[in-house]
Amino acid sequence: MRRWLGSSGMALVMGMSGGAATAAEAPTYHREVVRILQKHCQDCHRPGQVAPFSLLHYDQARKRGADLAAVTADRKMPPWHASSKEGGPFRDARVLSQDEIATLGRWAEAGCPEGAVADAPAPRTWESDWSLGTPDLVLKATESYTLDAEGQDELRVFVLPTGLTEGRWVAAVDFLPGNPKIVHHVLAAFDVRGAAKKLDEADPKPGYKAFGGFGMIPSGGLGGWSPGKVALPLPDGVGRYLPAGSDVLLQVHYHRSGKVESDNTSIGLYFAKHEVDKQVRGARIMPPSPGLFRRPTLLIPAGDAHYEISGTQTINEDSHLIAITPHMHWLGKDFLMKAIRPDGSTVTLIRIDQWDFNWQGAYDFATPVPLPKGTRIEMKAHFDNSAENSANPTSPPVAVHWGEQTTDEMCIGFLQMTVDDEHRKNQPPPRFALPTADRLSKEEKP
Ligand code: HEC
Repeated sequence: MRRWLGSSGMALVMGMSGGAATAAEAPTYHREVVRILQKHCQDCHRPGQVAPFSLLHYDQARKRGADLAAVTADRKMPPWHASSKEGGPFRDARVLSQDEIATLGRWAEAGCPEGAVADAPAPRTWESDWSLGTPDLVLKATESYTLDAEGQDELRVFVLPTGLTEGRWVAAVDFLPGNPKIVHHVLAAFDVRGAAKKLDEADPKPGYKAFGGFGMIPSGGLGGWSPGKVALPLPDGVGRYLPAGSDVLLQVHYHRSGKVESDNTSIGLYFAKHEVDKQVRGARIMPPSPGLFRRPTLLIPAGDAHYEISGTQTINEDSHLIAITPHMHWLGKDFLMKAIRPDGSTVTLIRIDQWDFNWQGAYDFATPVPLPKGTRIEMKAHFDNSAENSANPTSPPVAVHWGEQTTDEMCIGFLQMTVDDEHRKNQPPPRFALPTADRLSKEEKP
């Protein structure tokens, strides 16, 4: 915790002490502070969620008054790594206003006064564990997975048959980590070919072990979850098509807690209630690879504190960008993605100045960003492979290559897009238009 008591937080607290804040004017817990905690902190700081302590009651906040002021002034909390100066704007950005930060600072400086209970708003309640209400389809493994106390992080893929007899358009996806102490993040996809089921059958425990991806090529993606992620429905008229008979794949990244733990994470699917006109399409911006299906050439020298990597791709149809998921491992330092439109105008899509492996996830744009045909997407990122990088998993540092292990590195910008002149009118995407059996027999013809 000490490392978070940075200078700007202390300066703010001390700066106020000579100023005009008198006890009478100081914010109180029940009048101002609880509103800030309800809005920005309690989603994670309550029992059963990812944060290590609750911020639901006065005593809990008072005990840590100075810390609350310091971590918010330093913008360490709430965790949100995208720059608010450049890029976005994003839906549900976890960013406090300057006023809110100053209020917490003045409250701490005044000795964390409680104030009158009568000033307090109603406590927040979380009626359903599902933030969008009961899903149309909830899937989870038939058996919990037991994770040993010690060892490296583990990635496991669970194969969940949907039993769908007809294809459905999915408008929103949500996740309920079974055991938030060990579930670090979740990625979902689907498989219509039975390939994941075979891997599952070959592994005696529930699910199967994976390294980076799914251990096979899924038929399509279904989004993901990371701590604090609130489910967001896709924009109106946009969906992901889930074909009949598909298996949903949940890739769960487990952190060990030092104790034997068990988990059974669920995924909830919300089907589109209105006509779907466009499907979400995935794209990825990566550093150049020497050949088809080859991995990018990446070699980060041991000790290099500012190793640059870049990638670019041109958009070949008028499109809109819905969301970006930047992905790097422990050596990631910063990440920048821009779009250069054919008219020469440049927009920053996302800028992350301090990469944090623990807090990666999808960033959804407040409104989809137009990317006209011919737009060039440029990604530029840096790695810190020095001994000074406290996140460096290897000591002393060694040269690091591209790969899926957490001690390897990657740099990918996953994009979720729609194509402007696609009009599906609820019809399945062409590749899923045939019934599964016919499609498979056709695809399998040489
Ligand atoms: C998205 C989830 C999330 C939200 C929202 C969130 N926190 Fe946290 N907080 C965490 C987690 C997880 C930790 C444990 C440290 C870590 O893993 O980074 C933490 C740790 C802390 C700590 C301890 C710092 C330390 O070094 O141990 C403080 C203080 C704190 N949070 C305050 C806040 C305040 C104040 C807010 C709201 C303004 C807030 N947090 C919002 C997840 C969250």
